[in-house]
Amino acid sequence: MEYVELKLEELPYEINEEMKLLRTNLQFCGADKKVICVTSAVASEGKSTTVLNLCRSLTEQNKRVLLIDADLRKSVLRKSIILGKLRFGLSHLLTGQCSLDDVTCRTNVKGLTIIFSLVTPPNPSEILSSKQMEELLRAARGSFDYVIVDTPPLGMVVDAAVIAHHCDGAIMLISAGEVSYRAAQDVEHKLRNTGCPVLGVVLNKVDRKKSGKYYGRYYGKYYDKYYEEEPHAKR
Ligand SMILES: Nc1ncnc2c1ncn2[C@@H]1O[C@H](COP(=O)(O)OP(=O)(O)O)[C@@H](O)[C@H]1O
Ligand SMILES: [Mg+2]
Repeated sequence: MEYVELKLEELPYEINEEMKLLRTNLQFCGADKKVICVTSAVASEGKSTTVLNLCRSLTEQNKRVLLIDADLRKSVLRKSIILGKLRFGLSHLLTGQCSLDDVTCRTNVKGLTIIFSLVTPPNPSEILSSKQMEELLRAARGSFDYVIVDTPPLGMVVDAAVIAHHCDGAIMLISAGEVSYRAAQDVEHKLRNTGCPVLGVVLNKVDRKKSGKYYGRYYGKYYDKYYEEEPHAKR
């Protein structure tokens, strides 16, 4: 097992409170909701940020948490490592190039273990739908209180649906004013089609000063070069 140190900023009071609320809501979903994926419609809505904050919040209650960075196309999490070096990532594990022990990292957050995404494979959706991914989630379920899986946006690539199929529940994250009702609904349908219950929705990036009204900013980034679907991806 590796050890990495993450650069962590103290969360502002409001965000910390919201994370506690999210944690509590998750815990009230039931003891059988242990393997959870988080997805959204488009890129940069705040999935990775929220996943890490939620994991930190869960560890504050002495939970053992595994964070799996399953965004094999655009991983931001590994950029927060300030100490320690990664030799292997999730794609190595799923293609049999290393063991589970090689890929799991202890961190400077007590109780938090992370599997990072390191190398972008040519076929992310395919390796995420592999038997190895299913086995990883099954093994993790036995060793951790929570397994939180960060995924790419479901409005752009199919990866999150492939993962959700093996999860106990999914959290949809929607960035306020950036995503249309239709796009959000589309993500929900795709999640439901996997058979994975949608546990709830996190409305992110809410402008509290303007809350109560809809201040739609133009969001021109529905397209992101990282999330070009490979032509042979399963649907
Ligand atoms: N609630 C928030 N308020 C302001 N900025 C945010 C919020 N959540 C995330 N961000 C910022 O948005 C950007 C994208 O976040 P990230 O978590 O990487 O999104 P995703 O994983 O959905 O692509 C980052 O710069 C992050 O700091
Ligand atoms: Mg992300």
